[in-house]
Amino acid sequence: MFGFRESMIIERKPDQDPFLLCTFSNIDHLKLYSSRSVLLKSAYEYWTHGSSLIDVADKLTISSDWRPQLHETWRILVHGFRKQFTQPEKIQRIDAFSDRLKIKNKFCLNNKADCSVGLFESYEQGLIEQPKEVFVGRWICDGARHLIDKYDVRKRYFIGNTTMDATLSFVMANMGQCQPNHITLDPFCGTDTRLGGILLACAELGSNVVGSEFDWRVLTAKAKPTKANTKNLSRNPDEMMHRNFSDYGTLNRFLGVVGADFAYSPWRPTFQFDSIVTDPPYGIRESSQHKSRRRTDKADDDEENPVAEKYDLTNIYGDLLNFANVYLCVGGRLVFWMPTHILTYDESLLPTHPCFILFSNDEQQLNRTVSRRLLTMIKIRESNNNEKAQVNEKLFSNFRDLYFTPNTKIWEQLNSNNADTDSSAVSKKENS
Ligand SMILES: C[S@@+](CC[C@H](N)C(=O)[O-])C[C@H]1O[C@@H](n2cnc3c(N)ncnc32)[C@H](O)[C@@H]1O
Repeated sequence: MFGFRESMIIERKPDQDPFLLCTFSNIDHLKLYSSRSVLLKSAYEYWTHGSSLIDVADKLTISSDWRPQLHETWRILVHGFRKQFTQPEKIQRIDAFSDRLKIKNKFCLNNKADCSVGLFESYEQGLIEQPKEVFVGRWICDGARHLIDKYDVRKRYFIGNTTMDATLSFVMANMGQCQPNHITLDPFCGTDTRLGGILLACAELGSNVVGSEFDWRVLTAKAKPTKANTKNLSRNPDEMMHRNFSDYGTLNRFLGVVGADFAYSPWRPTFQFDSIVTDPPYGIRESSQHKSRRRTDKADDDEENPVAEKYDLTNIYGDLLNFANVYLCVGGRLVFWMPTHILTYDESLLPTHPCFILFSNDEQQLNRTVSRRLLTMIKIRESNNNEKAQVNEKLFSNFRDLYFTPNTKIWEQLNSNNADTDSSAVSKKENS
């Protein structure tokens, strides 16, 4: 999206610790990536790592590049993973490190230092005597974590009971590659178009944003406020959809919100979005089991006045992919959450469409039974012959029932099903 194809080469993925080692051929590319990343705390030029502070200091003597240059002022930032250091402990490490390396450069204790050296000690869970690994490197830039604080839901003027939290909203906006001159749609924007969440993050990263929503109470600001101690109060007259965009200085990117049942697209079929970023209803709480006037294949279905009925997950995800097939430009991204039941999840059952490839599938475990997955799909070509999405009903069958069933019961059921299948296989064999 920045106009270069080069991407980072990952040398080591974080496993038990948060350190990601990767190679960039150009430092400016790293800075561009970092400027949008809410999951990255800081980026450092990797110097070396070892088993102790003395070990890494000795390794650094091999190269004159791995230290502040002669004219530079410097400082050391000491960080622990799974261990917090007191100020005296930090000073002791700073002294030991600079003595060992015999660095004579002038110290500068604030962020104006020419060279900030990061010293990271990583510990095993519960073993805080000896670090497992020590990393050292030169600070290059910070990520965009300040956005999480800026968009903290608690600081927002207007929130609803389903508002997406700030970190995940920015992860979604990044997966959608939201950027200037793009138009992003959230077709189930709920409270978040008006109150913050997903579309606010997309607008912050540069996209022009638009939402649609079915619930008139959300659209007309009639839903009860959910901030602490405000449940029984009515909303303020200025608690309107544009207020959060206005507060964050992105009102010029807020194109508006449309009241619409997703099953009936209000958009011209020739109009195309650059990205669709959304959190459809999961239908777990009774109140969120929204209905739709979606036409069914039933014989008694009245073409003119379709009956409102439960909009089940299979239909929602089928409609979402078919919608994206029409309204997303080629190369555009469809980013959406999908609830899955942990014990019965099977990747081969994920929804597919011939014009889309699955780019990423990231799990967020919600409790011991249920996860949701952030799926990112890229439209790779225009459709011919009205190609349709495939959504396997098995993925969602009885999702709500499974959500409320204890895991032990599901295990019992799965085991008895397996036993049935085994015994039927045996009897078939015997018969043959
Ligand atoms: C999970 S919530 C989205 C929450 C949103 N991301 C937020 O941060 O507030 C799903 C939203 O979809 C809306 N919805 C449900 N059925 C719909 C339909 N048929 N058409 C359009 N919107 C619908 C619900 O009213 C709800 O606000």
